Amino acid sequence: MCEPEWPQAGRERMIVPAPVGTRGTGIEIDEPGMLRRMDADHVFMMGDNPALPRMPEKPRLLDFFRLRFQGITARHLLTSAGRALDDGQDEKVVLACLLHDIANGALIRSDHGYWGAQLIAPYVDEEVAWAVQYHQPLRYFADEAFGYAYPESYNAFFGPDYVPPDYIRRDAEHARGHRWYKTARLVTLYDIYFFDDTPAPDPERFADIIGRHFREPAEGLGFDGSPTAHMWRTMIWPNNFL
Ligand SMILES: [Fe+2]
Ligand SMILES: [Fe+2]
Repeated sequence: MCEPEWPQAGRERMIVPAPVGTRGTGIEIDEPGMLRRMDADHVFMMGDNPALPRMPEKPRLLDFFRLRFQGITARHLLTSAGRALDDGQDEKVVLACLLHDIANGALIRSDHGYWGAQLIAPYVDEEVAWAVQYHQPLRYFADEAFGYAYPESYNAFFGPDYVPPDYIRRDAEHARGHRWYKTARLVTLYDIYFFDDTPAPDPERFADIIGRHFREPAEGLGFDGSPTAHMWRTMIWPNNFL
C-alpha cells in the first residue's frame, strides 16, 4: 500500500489562522471555501512556512527573539531587561524582565502574563515564572513605595474609565502579600514602552544571564517533552492546520 504523498513544494499551502487571533475581529475565515479548493495543488499548511525564517533544529531561547518574536515585543523585552541590568538588579529580575511579555512575542496576547509564566516554568527558577505571571495583575495597581504609578499608557490603551476584572484585583492582592512581591513589582517598574526607533540592546548582551538561569534543553525548545514543549512548537509552526 502506498503512503500518501507529502505535499510538494510548489503546491499552495492554505493557512487557516488560529481561532484565538481572529474571533470577534471581523476577519472572516472561509474554511469551508478552502476545504472545497483542496486538491492535488492546494493543501493546508503543515511544517515550515516559507514566509517565516527557518528555525534551527534545536531552537534556543534567543532564536525565538531573533526569528519569531514581533519586532515591537523583542525590542520591549530587550530594553526592559537592559534597563534592569544597567540599574544593577539581581539576575533573576533581569531574566524576568527579559521574559515578562514573551507570550506576546509569537503566541497569544490575552492573559499574556499567565501564558508566559506557564511557557517558561519548566526552564527557570519558580520565582522568575511567578514574577512573569504576577506582573500582569500588578501593572494595574500603583505602589508609591516603589515609585510605581498607574501607567499613563494604560489610560491611552484602555481609556481612563477602564476597571480591571475581579480576578486581576484578586491576584494583585495575593501578589502584594507574597514573599516574591518585590521581584514582580520590579518587572512592572522596568515595563516601559518605547515606541521610538531607539535600537534595542543586542540579545547577546543577555547570553550569560540566560546561560546561568534558563535551562536550555539539549533537544531544543519544543522537542524536550516538557509540559510546555507544545507551546514552543506552536511558535515554531504557528500556521499548522492541526
Ligand atoms: Fe506585560
Ligand atoms: Fe511589558
